[in-house]
Amino acid sequence: ASLETFCYPLFYGWFPHHTFRDQLEGLAKDFLKTLDSLEAFKKHISDFTPKGEEVVNLEQYFQHTGPLHCTTKFCDYGNAPGAKEYIESQIVQQRYGSVTELELPALFLTPRTLGVRVALTLEQLQLWPSDAEAGTTLPRGSRGHITLGCAQGVEPVQTGVDLLQILQLQQQGREGEAVGDLEQGQLTYYGDGVWVLTLRESRVGPALFSSFHC
Ligand code: A2P
Repeated sequence: ASLETFCYPLFYGWFPHHTFRDQLEGLAKDFLKTLDSLEAFKKHISDFTPKGEEVVNLEQYFQHTGPLHCTTKFCDYGNAPGAKEYIESQIVQQRYGSVTELELPALFLTPRTLGVRVALTLEQLQLWPSDAEAGTTLPRGSRGHITLGCAQGVEPVQTGVDLLQILQLQQQGREGEAVGDLEQGQLTYYGDGVWVLTLRESRVGPALFSSFHC
C-alpha cells in the first residue's frame, strides 16, 4: 500500500475553533447544572441510577476525551465501508482545511450520551456520507452532532444513534412532555431518560474541516 493509504485517518469532521469550543463546554456545563437542580429531572433520576441512588453528579456522569468535533465520515484508518472513496473524493480534498460556520440548535441528553445537534447547510451536506442515516427515513444530515460526553463504558458512536432515535420519536409525532422554559431554551422530556433542550437561539461558530488520526 502507498504511504498515503497508510496514513488514512480515524475520522473526518468539523473541529470548532477553541473559542467556540469553550462556549460549547460552558453551555453544556450550564445545562447539566440546571438539570441537576430541576424537580422534573429529580423525579426521573432513576433513569440514570439503576441502583437506586438518589443523587447523580451529571458533570461526573458524562466524560469526554479528545478534541470536540462533528464527525462527517468515520474512516477507521481506511477500514470503514466507503472510507477510501470519501477520502479520495474531490469535494473532501477541496474543502480540507477550510473553515465553515456550524449552527447548533439543540442539546440532548440520554442515560448514555450528551450531545449537541448540528444543523447542516446544503454546502456542508456535500461532505456528508450517504449512509449516515441508513435504516431510517430521516433526511440526510439528521445525524449531525457533536459528542459532549458519554457515560462510563459507552462509546462515542452511541451519541449519533441516540440522536437518530430522538428524531425518529419526533417524526412519529411523539411530542414529549414540555418541562419548562429555561433561560437557555425549551426543555422536553421524552421518557426513558431522554431530554432535549431546544435553544432559544442557535449557537453559531467557526469550525475547521479536517481529520483526526490518533
Ligand atoms: P461521534 O461522532 O458520535 O462522537 P472512537 O473514539 O470510538 O474511535 O470514535 C471516534 C469518533 O468517530 C467519535 O467522534 C465517534 O462518534 C465517531 N465514530 C465512531 N464509530 C463510528 C461509526 N461506526 N459511525 C460513525 N461515527 C463513528
